[in-house]
Amino acid sequence: MAIRAHRLGGPEVLRREEIEVPDPGPGEVLVRQKAVGLNYADTYHRRGLYPLPSIPAVRRPAVVGVEAAGVVEAVGPRARDAKSADRSRVFRPGDRVAYCDVRGAYCVRRVVPANRLVRIPDGVDFEHAAAVMLKGVTAWYLCRRTYRLRADETVLVHAAAGGVGTILTQWCKALGATVIGTAGSVEKGRVAREHGCDHIVLYEEEDFVARVREITGGEGVPVVFDGVGAATFDGSLKCLARFGMMVSFGNASGVVPPFNLLRLTAGSLTVARPSVMAHIERRADLDEAAGELFGHIEASRIRIPIGQRFRLADAAEAHRALESRRTHGCTVMLT
Ligand SMILES: NC(=O)c1ccc[n+]([C@@H]2O[C@H](COP(=O)([O-])OP(=O)(O)OC[C@H]3O[C@@H](n4cnc5c(N)ncnc54)[C@H](OP(=O)(O)O)[C@@H]3O)[C@@H](O)[C@H]2O)c1
Repeated sequence: MAIRAHRLGGPEVLRREEIEVPDPGPGEVLVRQKAVGLNYADTYHRRGLYPLPSIPAVRRPAVVGVEAAGVVEAVGPRARDAKSADRSRVFRPGDRVAYCDVRGAYCVRRVVPANRLVRIPDGVDFEHAAAVMLKGVTAWYLCRRTYRLRADETVLVHAAAGGVGTILTQWCKALGATVIGTAGSVEKGRVAREHGCDHIVLYEEEDFVARVREITGGEGVPVVFDGVGAATFDGSLKCLARFGMMVSFGNASGVVPPFNLLRLTAGSLTVARPSVMAHIERRADLDEAAGELFGHIEASRIRIPIGQRFRLADAAEAHRALESRRTHGCTVMLT
């Protein structure tokens, strides 16, 4: 079974269908998936904001999703090219694995390139692994690579009760920083505080720029992590201290429109627009990210907040909930 889109559009384009699953080829592994991660990017793919390769290029339906966890069922034949790094040899049937950057995740069984799989540590179950991989790796690169956060700094994290938001907040706290988090409701503010936010700003009711200035004694913050996009971009720039960095990493409220670069001269500011895929393209980077992430989880510095669970067959309903701001923490779909 898989959830496929035959055309771009709203959640209603997601259809439950039976699909043929090929045998794994050289360097590939067949995985029986137990849980699939829901990510905002899945909605961008479904709508066409981010390209979904099969539609419309070759007019074939596309399986949505990029992240899942499950059990290795079979390993492909040995790669003929001895020089190619055949990581399928690393895995055996029965191994517990997860991935976060292989398109076509909304299904029960599938073939995955072995070099994209990571082993799930013993203390982490399938649904938590599927919930955390993409969001955790994103949190890793945001505060460890895009901006190297220091213990004495105060940061602004938008949508701090969301999937990335709750994990990023905990990671920033593990680095010793002070976190100001925005949230869309009182209830979400509570969730954000439970995951480490020192200050909560209810940005639907309060002027978040004024609050950040007040909390930082007029200084502003050295970095803003903004996955909300169009609705917050302008205000986020105004929250920055001199030489600050605006990290715009998502479009939950819409794509940030083009803007005049001269605005950055007020404070010699920097804007970054990073993407997770580039950060884990090299295997060594994926290993480093997953190693740090699972290390924090095993040491209880990061808790994986599963806010809601859906059946994979109800993926359309999960998309509706995410896009209408009815979710908090991470969302998983069980096969
Ligand atoms: N660049 C990358 O590498 C990368 C990787 C992963 C995720 N992302 C981005 O990170 C962001 C968070 O992803 P996620 O999967 O963890 O989602 P999420 O944060 O769990 O959900 C999005 C949240 O954004 C807030 N929001 C504010 N205005 C909104 C609007 N008009 N419509 C919908 N939501 C709105 C809502 O929180 P409140 O109600 O509290 O405002 C909502 O719950 C997304 O933009 C995603 O694309 C980027």
